[in-house]
Amino acid sequence: MSDLVSKSTRTFGRRQGRPIKDTKQQLMDELFPTISIELPEVDYLINPDIYFDQKAPVWFEVGFGGGEHIAQLAVQHPDINFIGCEPFMNGVASLVNHIQEQHISNIRIFQGNALDVLKSFNHECLSRFYLMFADPWPKKRHHKRRFIQNDILNLVIPKLMLNAEFRLATDHESYQQWMVQHLRNRTDLKEVLCTFDKPTDWPNTRYEAKAIEEGRKPLYLIFQRVQ
Ligand SMILES: C[S@@+](CC[C@H](N)C(=O)[O-])C[C@H]1O[C@@H](n2cnc3c(N)ncnc32)[C@H](O)[C@@H]1O
Repeated sequence: MSDLVSKSTRTFGRRQGRPIKDTKQQLMDELFPTISIELPEVDYLINPDIYFDQKAPVWFEVGFGGGEHIAQLAVQHPDINFIGCEPFMNGVASLVNHIQEQHISNIRIFQGNALDVLKSFNHECLSRFYLMFADPWPKKRHHKRRFIQNDILNLVIPKLMLNAEFRLATDHESYQQWMVQHLRNRTDLKEVLCTFDKPTDWPNTRYEAKAIEEGRKPLYLIFQRVQ
């Protein structure tokens, strides 16, 4: 694995912001341990099915923020298993709260770097992959921290099943161009959608709402694994 992937854990910044309220802390102490993902200590590959009660296709979200997107998807698709990854404690507590309030049983959470999870998964085990409003790292010297780049795509794409969708959105103009260019360059992906008109089956996220309120136009992309 490249240096870039192994060093990426350092690039998150703060893992906790505001103190977590008592009610959410109670959920973190009681519900979270029952739905959080533990990775194998030894170096072998696992199938994500082991984390769920039902056998079903697995959809994966990197950086779910407050978790509103993955929670809504999970309610709309009870016959899908969801894995969400987010290092930020307040975001994890927010998703655990959605899970409790909406009686969701088909989400599992990894609090940490999505790349660590992906590294431990079998190839061709994910049916859909979401990257919503990833950190844009606007400064040129930080571009190497962007999630979309060849080293990371070389890790992610083999985990997708054939025809699985890779769905992305970003409001950041230079990252929009960067994403499109990197994804179009790949022979293992086919472009399905590239639009500023949001598809109707796509739940909102907190960052998206903020971006639109501040006058930025998110770009929505769907690519499909073809080989
Ligand atoms: C700009 S925020 C967007 C949050 C959310 N997707 C939304 O649209 O509201 C990006 C999020 O991705 C998370 N993140 C960045 N790199 C990640 C990684 N490698 N694995 C998991 N989460 C990551 C950050 O902690 C942050 O919460």
